[in-house]
Amino acid sequence: MSTDQPPIDPNRPSAARIYDAFLGGSHNFAADRAVAARAAEILPEVTLIARANRDFLQRAVRYAAARGIRQFLDLGSGIPTERNVHEVAREVSPDCRVVYADLDPTAVLYARHLLGDDERTAIVRGDLQDPATILDRPEVRGLLDLDRPVAVLMVAVLHFLPDGPALDAALRAYRDTAAPGSVLVISHAAPGGTPDLTDRVADLYNRSGAPLVLRDAGQVARFFDGWRMVEPGLVPGPLWRPDGEPVTDAARYLTLAGVGER
Ligand SMILES: C[S@@+](CC[C@H](N)C(=O)[O-])C[C@H]1O[C@@H](n2cnc3c(N)ncnc32)[C@H](O)[C@@H]1O
Repeated sequence: MSTDQPPIDPNRPSAARIYDAFLGGSHNFAADRAVAARAAEILPEVTLIARANRDFLQRAVRYAAARGIRQFLDLGSGIPTERNVHEVAREVSPDCRVVYADLDPTAVLYARHLLGDDERTAIVRGDLQDPATILDRPEVRGLLDLDRPVAVLMVAVLHFLPDGPALDAALRAYRDTAAPGSVLVISHAAPGGTPDLTDRVADLYNRSGAPLVLRDAGQVARFFDGWRMVEPGLVPGPLWRPDGEPVTDAARYLTLAGVGER
């Protein structure tokens, strides 16, 4: 095991494994399932919300690949589940390269296992708030040509990060690193019309050691500073370029999603 892989503590819930439990995955422990079950009691739509978020991620990846982007930096990539970024992107073009990065050792371990010896993907453990620990890794430098457009994905991750200079500096660093033609993909948990319920879910996460910061549209829009929003702008996740059945009551998905371009 590489030295950047701390031990996995099954008794301490992790955001990555709780999300895996929402998606019906098998890479989670009893402590994670307990938090997931409690969240579903408070907010029964939580599984639907997680699935809708994955659907947004896939639409955004297809959008980026259709624009001609062939390299992807997936920050807070989570535990690999079906239809991952490289699989979706390669349906558009088989030469797509993907770097997955996550702070959670479980996510990194399973991603390494899943990706095996795929030479056009890499998984690194790193904090997205410390861009150098990700961008300066030799395997990342070897895979991504940062002089060419890249899709930077921060999907369902920024709500685990508090406001502050570290986050601001990191967002600036990714923006300044991204060549013209790059895109930034963000989805983020929002309070929606039932702040009482979402506050209770946030409180549950806080108590489980994975603090959750809900942000409204103005606060999430700020993460796109220096990027031009592509149509339809920052919207409830299911309304971002939907490709299936029309969604009613999209605000109940409690997710804001958007894509910016350089
Ligand atoms: C809810 S999951 C989202 C996974 C995937 N992006 C998706 O939308 O399907 C959030 C992930 O962000 C990771 N994460 C949280 N804080 C992070 C940080 N500071 N740097 C990198 N990853 C982080 C968690 O470990 C978790 O795997």
